[in-house]
Amino acid sequence: MQRLIPTGDAARPVAFTEAPQPTPEPGEALIKVEAFAPNRGETFLLERPRQGLLPGKDIAGLVVQAAADGSGPGIGTRVVGHPAQGGWAEYAAVPTHSLAVLTDGIDSVRAAALPLAGITALRLLRTAGSLAGRRVLLTGASGGVGHYVTELAVAAGAELTAVTATPVRGERLTELGARVVHDVTAAQGPFDVVLESTGGTTLPIALSKVRPGGLLVWFGQASRSPVTLDFFELLGVAEGVTIQHFHYAGAPYGPDLAALVGLVERGRLHPEIGRIADWADTADTLVDLRERRIRGKAVLLTGEGR
Ligand SMILES: NC(=O)c1ccc[n+]([C@@H]2O[C@H](COP(=O)([O-])OP(=O)(O)OC[C@H]3O[C@@H](n4cnc5c(N)ncnc54)[C@H](OP(=O)(O)O)[C@@H]3O)[C@@H](O)[C@H]2O)c1
Repeated sequence: MQRLIPTGDAARPVAFTEAPQPTPEPGEALIKVEAFAPNRGETFLLERPRQGLLPGKDIAGLVVQAAADGSGPGIGTRVVGHPAQGGWAEYAAVPTHSLAVLTDGIDSVRAAALPLAGITALRLLRTAGSLAGRRVLLTGASGGVGHYVTELAVAAGAELTAVTATPVRGERLTELGARVVHDVTAAQGPFDVVLESTGGTTLPIALSKVRPGGLLVWFGQASRSPVTLDFFELLGVAEGVTIQHFHYAGAPYGPDLAALVGLVERGRLHPEIGRIADWADTADTLVDLRERRIRGKAVLLTGEGR
């Protein structure tokens, strides 16, 4: 079968190779991949790929071999999955605890756009606590996570301000109910909660806009620059604020995937997909994602999905 593997070349981060079909563990189903979606974090991993890295965490497709231990969906079931790796291939072995069944109303493209970004949004919002009537600031908002967070937070009653680089990158967020600004300094605080994913010079400014005793959840560093904080600049401003480091990871993912599928099915969550392409275009798509040229998610189509 065909599989994409890292090259270590920033201009063309992946290339096709011929590889054996994976042999599933007893608790894994074999999925024929129809669509997959890359994430910003994966583009970081591809810069200096570790030996043996097989990229690919977000897939949708068809079960062609059920798990030998009897768990999970049967052969012929359409699923969305979040394997630890290996999803950018014609076939992937996925633990059944990290699969959810797809209903007929949800195509593989929207399904593949859900896993990592959607699970992150759900877990991030649970970390933030109740948002009913809360003032929320979200940075790095024009990507996959940002669109999911915005739609879910607004539905939960938050008054949300989103930071995007340009008006075009914030258009859909405005439609979803966010107040969009293009520089964190323009965000009108104070905020009860800040969801920060860019690091660098943005985090300290965002932190200065949290109300005393509020919460800043730090979930990324898209700028690639570390953060420097000045104790004295925060005196009388963000006193008593909690800074919480957040990482979404922790299997099982199946229940959260099923929750996301249900939200899409009921029209409560609308994946924002800025690019749909054949997986022959994966390398270019990864570069465009890294360079902020894609709004929301990118989805690549393999085999039957094309
Ligand atoms: N902690 C976790 O568990 C976890 C899980 C998933 C994702 N993340 C992180 O969360 C963030 C969002 O993830 P995603 O999948 O939604 O990524 P994405 O689709 O690539 O979106 C990231 C957004 O960050 C902004 N950004 C990119 N480079 C930037 C820079 N140099 N300076 C300022 N802003 C920049 C971009 O918005 P504009 O171009 O509009 O500014 C972009 O839309 C990323 O930083 C990612 O690494 C963390």
